[in-house]
Amino acid sequence: MSNARTALDRCTELARITADAPRIERVYLSAEHAAANTLVAEWMERAGLRTWQDAVGNLCGRREGRTDGLPALMIGSHLDTVPDAGAYDGPLGVIMAIAVAERLRGHDLPFALEVIAFNDEEGTRFGTALLGSQAVAGRWQEHWWDQSGRDGLTLRRAFADFGLDSGRVSEAARTPAELVGYLEAHIEQGPYIEAENRSLGFVTAIAGARRFQLSIVGQAGHAGGTPYPRRRDALASACEAITMIERVARESGEDGGIATVGRIQVQPGAVNVIPGQADFTLDLRAATDARRDAMWDGIRAEIERICASRGTRLEVLETHSASACECASWLRDAIATGIRTTGDDDPRGLWSKAGHDAMAMGAICDVAMLFIRCREGVSHNPAEDVREVDVARGINAYEQAVLEVARTYDSSGGPDAPAPRTAARSGAVPALRAGA
Ligand code: GLV
Ligand code: MN
Ligand code: MN
Repeated sequence: MSNARTALDRCTELARITADAPRIERVYLSAEHAAANTLVAEWMERAGLRTWQDAVGNLCGRREGRTDGLPALMIGSHLDTVPDAGAYDGPLGVIMAIAVAERLRGHDLPFALEVIAFNDEEGTRFGTALLGSQAVAGRWQEHWWDQSGRDGLTLRRAFADFGLDSGRVSEAARTPAELVGYLEAHIEQGPYIEAENRSLGFVTAIAGARRFQLSIVGQAGHAGGTPYPRRRDALASACEAITMIERVARESGEDGGIATVGRIQVQPGAVNVIPGQADFTLDLRAATDARRDAMWDGIRAEIERICASRGTRLEVLETHSASACECASWLRDAIATGIRTTGDDDPRGLWSKAGHDAMAMGAICDVAMLFIRCREGVSHNPAEDVREVDVARGINAYEQAVLEVARTYDSSGGPDAPAPRTAARSGAVPALRAGA
């Protein structure tokens, strides 16, 4: 049951739970979210885990350790997707975690093992991201409630429609004392592991991200009658801004920042009307918060200059902000040890340019990640693909990593250790800032 073929078949089965067949789309607090939780709960129970859905819709499964009530090592990833997604971004990490839990059934572990399936890593529905993991990290923000989704429903309304109680969100929060750490397996979503002909890699740090909803406001007018000196064309301003954004990010180099405009809407959107408003998203990432913030400051100043020269105006709404997250060395080492057991003597470490639930969890416990090669680095695309041999090595490495964490944890005194074990508890992991 706990082999790579089963894991891949399960990803295919989950891909059938979609709002937009044949495309894959499962967003937070949707009917598909509920259906995915039901299916994955069955798999968790077959692996010997006691399951429940937490106060914000995350699916959890737990098996006690040596004695009941010990702190937990959490392993997992997410079940929600971007629109027109691939089948592996998120689900593979959840399913691999279940496979590991199943294999370790009967092992005498010095901690409880919890598998968690988060449900809003991508932020597809409400524009924010990591809502499930931020709730677990105790970082839920009151101002999110009135944020509207793509369908116009507020988070508060969607929460109630899903059958959740907005007054109980804090029950999803976990404390540092309840957790040994968090490990996440995920496809790389980039080309570096494949380029080195490897199956696996370990993550050193996760990029800091900021997301914005930007609006350029001009003036709608007659496409024929308005002479150029009188035009205040919002779309032409946005186009100039977007090409500038790409140039700034490209010129920042390999370890600089990355900037993406992923969606644009124009009003009133008619063939014979000069656009009066252009709304577009901006996603910014960099290895350090300082680089990411400097890039935003530069981009903002430049858009304002473009607007001034075209008689338009910029409005900014920050929808998401997550600090860069350093992976804890003892957990990173455990992942590298796991990778070595698969025949890769010198495992590759790399920083993740994609965001992950591990960033939110880093606010309350130590975290580390195992990356699995994905074909041609393609992700957020239906062509996303993984090889069975890599998933097989991944599950082996993951299982060995958990056993290595158990050895290290045991030898450092386990739950009775006097000194704080986690970087988060000693303040080394920057807290996650949500919203603006
Ligand atoms: C999550 O996939 C992200 O946008 O990084
Ligand atoms: Mn993703
Ligand atoms: Mn993901």
